[in-house]
Amino acid sequence: MLILGIETSCDETAAGVVAEGRQLRANVVASQAAVHARYGGVVPEVASRHHLEAMLPVVTAALKEAGCEPRDLDAIAVTSGPGLAGALLVGLNVAKGLAFAWDKPLLSINHLEGHIYANWLLDRTPEFPAVVLIVSGGHSELVLARGHGEYTLLGRTRDDAAGEAFDKAARVLGLGFPGGPAIERTAREAKSKPPKLPRAWLGESCDFSFSGLKTAVGRLAAEAKYPVPEIAAGFQESVVDVLVTKTVRAVREHGAACVLLSGGVAANGPLRATLAEKSPVPVWAPPISLCTDNGAMIAAAAFYRAESARAGLDLDVRANWPIA
Ligand code: KG4
Ligand code: ZN
Repeated sequence: MLILGIETSCDETAAGVVAEGRQLRANVVASQAAVHARYGGVVPEVASRHHLEAMLPVVTAALKEAGCEPRDLDAIAVTSGPGLAGALLVGLNVAKGLAFAWDKPLLSINHLEGHIYANWLLDRTPEFPAVVLIVSGGHSELVLARGHGEYTLLGRTRDDAAGEAFDKAARVLGLGFPGGPAIERTAREAKSKPPKLPRAWLGESCDFSFSGLKTAVGRLAAEAKYPVPEIAAGFQESVVDVLVTKTVRAVREHGAACVLLSGGVAANGPLRATLAEKSPVPVWAPPISLCTDNGAMIAAAAFYRAESARAGLDLDVRANWPIA
């Protein structure tokens, strides 16, 4: 089964082709990061306009990379939420148009579920039950996956998402956008012990909170007592500590067989390394190119949802669509 996956929930225009839910045939992403960088964040209307320009060339490039023709495809999968409504609409309407023109089934996929299935594009097969940490620019969700499509939400952010915190802290420190890679790079330049920034433990809850941390970074930056790399390192340590501690606790509580890390923040080196070191079970994390938004993860998820995700041409976007 060969599936074309289309993704436009935020600022990446992406299309991927995956065979049998596991074999990556193509992964083409047109990033708009440079366009949004000058505004310090994603501007929704600008994102939609760029999706419109990039979408068809990206689909064409994905089919070429996969060495396939439209007639070889078995289905067209698309992210229909959660995300920016105007951005989602572009991918959704292109997917509808192609499904209609090429006479293929249309599959509606949750963006967060897509992030989880980036882990199915690796060599080995993840085992259930799995604790999934989805950390991106819009989400910080801790999920228990008991099987394909069987999710229980264990915790989520009560304010900023982890990636949003990276982006906001980077802005305060004058490091540019997107903030995650900039903070990670800058933190490596720290020469002395970084300041200890606050951790919002929220008792025994699996929820997260990162907005206080952003305020703390702002205060430290204004005091100018520490160099920027040290503040970046202290910030990163705090985020990693909270994410890892809560994930490991969830693994023990639920007897998980593995941890699946996903979402843009999963690209973070210290997060990957610390989680691998502290987790009592194997930790899976996709290569960086599959951590951030892409179409291949949507195609992979769609393979396991081939029946339940079937949609008609009246399919609409769902800007808010909890995974569980
Ligand atoms: O999954 P994604 O591409 O888009 C959303 O669905 O939001 O995630 C983007 C987020 C951004 O906030 C970006 O700063 C963050 O992922 N990110 C990182 C790193 N690379 C990207 N955060 C920390 N460390 C990184 N290396
Ligand atoms: Zn994402």
